Amino acid sequence: MRKITIIGAGRVGEAVGQILAKANLVREIVLLDINEGIAKGGALDIQETSPLFCFDTQVVGATEAEAMQGSDIVVITAGVPRKPGMSRSDVLDINSTILNSIIDNILAYAPDSMILVVSNPVDILTYQAWKRTGWDRSRVFGQAGVLDSARMAAFIALETGLSVKNISAMVLGGHGDAMVPMTRFTTISGIPINHFLEPKVIDKIVKRSRFGGAEILTLKQNSSAYDAPAAAIAEMVESIVLNRRQLLPTVAILDGEYGEINIAMGVPCILGEKGMEHIIELELNNDEQKMFNTTIAAIKKDIARICT
Ligand code: 2OP
Repeated sequence: MRKITIIGAGRVGEAVGQILAKANLVREIVLLDINEGIAKGGALDIQETSPLFCFDTQVVGATEAEAMQGSDIVVITAGVPRKPGMSRSDVLDINSTILNSIIDNILAYAPDSMILVVSNPVDILTYQAWKRTGWDRSRVFGQAGVLDSARMAAFIALETGLSVKNISAMVLGGHGDAMVPMTRFTTISGIPINHFLEPKVIDKIVKRSRFGGAEILTLKQNSSAYDAPAAAIAEMVESIVLNRRQLLPTVAILDGEYGEINIAMGVPCILGEKGMEHIIELELNNDEQKMFNTTIAAIKKDIARICT
């Protein structure tokens, strides 16, 4: 793969551009934004780190959609961010309109690419992007669970005082307050976390993970999180570009998996050179199924809002 376009050169877009450039993964990265200065300034700023980080990737800032031509992956970060006190669903109507015009540009200029949706509410926008493209679901997916799982793993490391290196957390479901932290599949070197932590501490971690985005937004007031989201996007992109075939929680279009159709949500997936190559179906216990039902109902309600 040779080219990645990031649509939206805001904080998340620029931060992921920096991480991907530093990884020297592809020949060209395009930062596309309606604001020319933001796109070009961000791209130049990243390019000027190339001697220090030693990468040959060319980073280009642009406003014209033509600049995405030949992209292998298009990452969509553009949209209106929520403000403190708002839910991700509160920005659905505006971001849904923005997404339609972005998808039309991708259809025109990068019809052979894969689309990684990041803008919120990500589950609903991923579904909308898939519907509008008419593409195979392997080429349209979203980022949420890698970020939510990273937050959970970070909180577990803080609570236990153990290295994050061997902590593997898994958060599935929608990227909203009803997301599903899967404690049964969350381990430290393969040992379930309930071996290390009291139930009430695990509950605290689960709650903090669910509201991880809001916690940062409340602290910063005028910005959502961007360092961890950017690192999460880069993890998914690397798995695809390097065909690592990592098993990562991914917002995927369900086609019968988990008993659902007509929905996109976070489920464990294999990401490789063909995109979202496979969905892993887990047998859920009663508690997990209940949480899945709640998150599914919330996503379906929002999908109905934009599809009517
Ligand atoms: C977050 O969770 C912005 O949804 C993003 O930080």
